[in-house]
Amino acid sequence: MRKIAVFASGNGSNFENITVAAEQGRIPGCKVVLCVCDRPGAFVTERAARHGVEIFAFRAKDFANKLGFEKLIADRMDELGVDLVCLAGYMRIIGDELLTRYSGRIINLHPALLPAFPGAHSIRDAFEYGVKVYGITIHYVDETLDGGRIIAQRAIPYEGEDMTELEDMIHAEEHRLYPEIIARLLQN
Ligand code: GAR
Repeated sequence: MRKIAVFASGNGSNFENITVAAEQGRIPGCKVVLCVCDRPGAFVTERAARHGVEIFAFRAKDFANKLGFEKLIADRMDELGVDLVCLAGYMRIIGDELLTRYSGRIINLHPALLPAFPGAHSIRDAFEYGVKVYGITIHYVDETLDGGRIIAQRAIPYEGEDMTELEDMIHAEEHRLYPEIIARLLQN
């Protein structure tokens, strides 16, 4: 059984989508064993509880530095035997401790066609820029902001004026692609 940790900060629709895909065998031979969340009380923790997934919730301000909480997270992931770390709306830069200990095993989902529109407000930034083709990217995580090697991308043409409709289209594509890529990576 391959084991996944999902990191999220807020809503957690991708967390739940990956968890359900694993439960239903659409990510064969795999289980989500840990939900890491830097905002205790975020809706993703309710979703994790509902699916019986262990939660590691913390507040960065309770630690002297990033090393402090990343060491605890990596220790717990080692104990659980985590194979792959999937960031899904985790709004924090991964530090040296996790990058070193989980080198090549951390991936991120980003709601834009990188290298265009990195950062935390990509959909809004692209919408305000007026692009006509949006998209999503799944990439390896390294020390750069949204800059690691790209694994997969999907383009989403949209010429409408409704940002909510656009967000829904982007999330639907994320929910299709992320489990498919996770399954592919875990098979190799
Ligand atoms: C997703 O759209 C994901 O691509 C984005 O946060 C959202 C989380 O939604 N990630 C980033 O912007 C990373 N820079 P969710 O909590 O419903 O899964």
